[in-house]
Amino acid sequence: MAKAKTVYICSECGQQYPKWAGRCNACGAWNTLEEEVVVKKSGTSSVKVGNLKLSSINSMSFKDETRYPTGMGELDRVLGGGLVKGSLVLLSGDPGIGKSTLLLQICSCLADGKKVLYISGEESERQIKLRADRLGVSADGLYISACTDCDTIIEGVRAEKPDVVIIDSIQTMQMTEIQSVPGSLVQVRECTNAFMQMAKSLDISVFLVGHVNKDGGIAGPKVLEHIVDTVLYFEGDKQLSYRILRAVKNRFGSTNEIGVFEMRDRGLFEVENPSAMLLSGRPAGVSGITVLCTMEGSRPILAEVQALVSKTGFSAPRRVSAGFDYNRLCVLLAVLEKRAGLLFGAYDVYINIIGGLKIDEPASDLAIALALYSGLQDKDIGDDVAVFGELGLGGEIRAVSHIRQRVREAARMGFEKCIVPKSSLKDLDKSENYGISIYGAANIKQAFSVIEAISKVDEKKE
Ligand code: TYD
Ligand code: MG
Repeated sequence: MAKAKTVYICSECGQQYPKWAGRCNACGAWNTLEEEVVVKKSGTSSVKVGNLKLSSINSMSFKDETRYPTGMGELDRVLGGGLVKGSLVLLSGDPGIGKSTLLLQICSCLADGKKVLYISGEESERQIKLRADRLGVSADGLYISACTDCDTIIEGVRAEKPDVVIIDSIQTMQMTEIQSVPGSLVQVRECTNAFMQMAKSLDISVFLVGHVNKDGGIAGPKVLEHIVDTVLYFEGDKQLSYRILRAVKNRFGSTNEIGVFEMRDRGLFEVENPSAMLLSGRPAGVSGITVLCTMEGSRPILAEVQALVSKTGFSAPRRVSAGFDYNRLCVLLAVLEKRAGLLFGAYDVYINIIGGLKIDEPASDLAIALALYSGLQDKDIGDDVAVFGELGLGGEIRAVSHIRQRVREAARMGFEKCIVPKSSLKDLDKSENYGISIYGAANIKQAFSVIEAISKVDEKKE
């Protein structure tokens, strides 16, 4: 017989407790324990001692993993070269960011020669059909269904034997034997486990859609991240049309690739040239603006940094940062003050990375520092200059990786000058003509001198 039991589960890490507590002992988060009623099936599973099967790794031979192209090069890149057969992929992001749209669009390509099941717990079949028509999705191998019962879905999948299953969304799925509401931690975790087993035992690729609320959501995404093979985050400013797809966990590829999309009235379109997109609309001759060259995985991307330095009206000046780490900004301000004598104590500082991009690469330090310098002096540094370099606490500019790709990308996008770490110059290929003037700077003061020299030359030309 089934027996009901109340437990308290941390929505951050999934740790279970028999009693409520204010703080989770496992992950240290406060106020995250939620009450859940769990019904356990009776009957003990029979595990026989001595049943552990061992295989020698040298005696095993498997073919390379099969990958399905999704028809979206940007998504394939983030997945590590296509959707792996038998893998479980979690696609998460804020509601309304475009998860359902993306998955329905890739059905067009996936269902061409394969059988794809699109199961929605959020929309009716009619709604899905209307959306598919609007997106121009049609394929003989695509089947849709509106269902929220996990067991029914798994039974159906066993019978139908599709190649790919899409579950939209995991928060709407439920198992009848668990007496919690859909979307609760227990339901989400148990359903995910069931879909994981389905994917592995039938060798079917499964996409799960997971919503994330502002504070991490009811079903703390961390709980699911442990279970699935790949976790993709779809992010971007909902007001802007650009969306960035990022892998935060991938058992079948690298996690630092990003895919860039644009949401238009007929669905998502791939952006093959993100630098051009991120630089479009850049104002000319305005102070506080620099262009940095950052590496997103194997791809160099140019992005615009804006700094606004204005007289403060507060006793403690404000520091606000969007797209760049706040603490790192404070460190850079301290370095500029101590090593270059720039005083920001009487100024509010606002930093923004354009296009909703989040920069966490140390090589972006120099661009931020020069934007702050330009903002403080209220003098623009020229719109044909790209910069990159890591700033040390001593004010030194440290070498960065992939200098050739970065310089090439800047030249490709029409930049004429590039300020780079002096110690990285040796990594440049002497025989290659990059088609761009490259200036090396060893420390922050030298970088300022380069800027001054460049603007003097430009003035003379005019
Ligand atoms: P959707 O894929 O439903 O979001 P999610 O599944 O992540 O919750 O996308 C919803 C948003 O996308 C909605 O605000 C409208 C917009 N959209 C377009 O701009 N163009 C389109 O062709 C479609 C289908 C949606
Ligand atoms: Mg949706």
